[in-house]
Amino acid sequence: MENQYINKDLDLTAFEGGNHRDIVGGLWDEIGQLQFDYMIAQGLSPTDRFIDVACGSMRGGRHFIPYLNAGHYYGFDILRELIDAGMTHEIAPLGMVDKVPEGNLASAADFEFPESWRGLDKGLALSLFTHLTLNTIVQCLTKLRAVMADDGVFYATIFETTEETQIQPQTHPHNIVSYMCQDPYHYTRADMDYVAQKTGWGVESLKGFGHPRGQHMVVFKAR
Ligand SMILES: C[S@@+](CC[C@H](N)C(=O)[O-])C[C@H]1O[C@@H](n2cnc3c(N)ncnc32)[C@H](O)[C@@H]1O
Repeated sequence: MENQYINKDLDLTAFEGGNHRDIVGGLWDEIGQLQFDYMIAQGLSPTDRFIDVACGSMRGGRHFIPYLNAGHYYGFDILRELIDAGMTHEIAPLGMVDKVPEGNLASAADFEFPESWRGLDKGLALSLFTHLTLNTIVQCLTKLRAVMADDGVFYATIFETTEETQIQPQTHPHNIVSYMCQDPYHYTRADMDYVAQKTGWGVESLKGFGHPRGQHMVVFKAR
C-alpha cells in the first residue's frame, strides 16, 4: 500500500471509546512525551511559532499546546477527523481549546499549508515520512519551506537504512518491518541529503533519539 492513511475509512463512533489514539500508532503516552521532551531539548520556546505536520489526534499536541503561547501551535493533517477527535477528546479536557484559533488547524491533501501560516519558526513531523514515498517527501519539504522562516528548523522521523541494505525489508524494535517500496518506508542518509538539497533545506543531522520502534530524527535547516 502506498500510504495507509490515504482514503482511510474511519469509524468516528469508535473515537468516543478512544481509538483515535490507536490510529496514530499507539504508545500514546510514551511517544507523546518523547516528542515533546525532544523538542524542548532542541530549544523549543513558548514564543516559537510551531507546526506539527501530520499532527493526527494530538498525541504531541496535548503536550505542545499547553507549553506554547496561545496561537503559536499550528496543526496540519490529511485527515480532518483525527484533528477534530484530538481537539475534542484530548485538548478540550485540558481546557486548552481557546489556545488554538480555528485558523491554526488545517487539513488538506498535497501539503497545501495556508498562506497565512508563513514565518513559522520550528516544525516536527513524527512518524510521517515513514508513510510517504520519496516524491511525496519532496512535495512536503518544498511546500513547508515556503511557510517556514528563513532560519526555520524542521525535524522529521524516518526508518533509516543503508545503501547496501535498502532493497531488503528491515526489522525494527516491536517487530516493525520497513520497506523500500511500501508503507512503512525506510530511507538512507543520502536520500535525505538529496531531498533536502532539492527543496531549500540542508540536513544538519540524522540520528537516533530514543524512539521505541527505532525511528531516527532528521534535522532539516532552511537555507
Ligand atoms: C503515525 S501517525 C503520527 C501522528 C502524530 N504525528 C503523532 O505522533 O501522533 C501518521 C499521521 O500522518 C498523517 N498523514 C499521512 N499521510 C499524510 C499526508 N500525505 N499529509 C498529511 N498528513 C498525512 C496521518 O493522517 C496520521 O495522522
